Amino acid sequence: MGYNVAIDGPAGAGKSTIAKLVAKEKGFVYVDTGAMYRGLAVHFLDRGLRPEETDKIIEACGDAQVTIKYEEGIQQVYLNGTNITARLRDEEVGNMASKSSPIPQVREKLLELQQGLAREQDVIMDGRDIGTCVLPNADVKVYLTASVETRAKRRYDELVEKGISCSLDEIAKDIKERDERDMTRDTAPLKQAGDAVLIDSSCMSVKEVVEAILALCR
Ligand code: DC
Repeated sequence: MGYNVAIDGPAGAGKSTIAKLVAKEKGFVYVDTGAMYRGLAVHFLDRGLRPEETDKIIEACGDAQVTIKYEEGIQQVYLNGTNITARLRDEEVGNMASKSSPIPQVREKLLELQQGLAREQDVIMDGRDIGTCVLPNADVKVYLTASVETRAKRRYDELVEKGISCSLDEIAKDIKERDERDMTRDTAPLKQAGDAVLIDSSCMSVKEVVEAILALCR
C-alpha cells in the first residue's frame, strides 16, 4: 500500500494547484480524479449524448476504457487508447462530467482505477469523495475550500489572463450550481470526511496552504 493523501473540496478551491506542489515537494504521484470523470464525459459527448440520457450514458460506460499515464510527471488521460488530455478543460466537458458523475455506474467504472493507483504508489489524490469513499483509510485527509466569491474571482482572473472575456457574476452562478449538484447527489456527495482537516484558503496564499498540508504529511 502506498502512502495516501486525499484532498477533497468544491470546484475552484485550488485543489490541483496545491496537490501538484505537494506532490513535487514529497515525490508523490498526483492523481487528478476529476480528469477521469472528464475523460468519460468526452466519451459521452462524442457519442452525441445529453446529460439527461442516463440509460444511454450507463450503456456507453460499457465500451469506455479510461487509462492514465504519466509523461514527464504529468497525468495524461487516455480514452480507448487516444490521448484526450487537451480536451478535458472544455466547459462542455466540465458540465457533462458534473452532470454524469452522480450516476453510480459512472462512479463504479472509475473507482477501481483510482484505488489501484493508490495501492501501487505514494499518491496525493484530489476529487470530491476521496477521503469519504475512494480512500477511506488515507494517511492524510484534507477538505480544501474557499468562499464562492474567492473561487469565482480566481477563475475570472485565470480566464482574463488567457484573453477570454467572461462575467464574474456568471462564473459565481456556475460555481454555486456545481457546488449544489456535487453536494446533494445521492451517490458519493461532496462532504468533509469526519477525520479530514478543514483548510479554508480564502485568505491564504498558495504557499501557506502547501505548507499547512506538508505539515500534516509524514
Ligand atoms: O474537479 P473537476 O472540476 O475536474 O471535476 C469535474 C466533475 O467531476 C465535478 O463537477 C464532479 C466530478 N467529480 C466527482 O464526482 N468525483 C471526483 N472524485 C472528482 C470529480
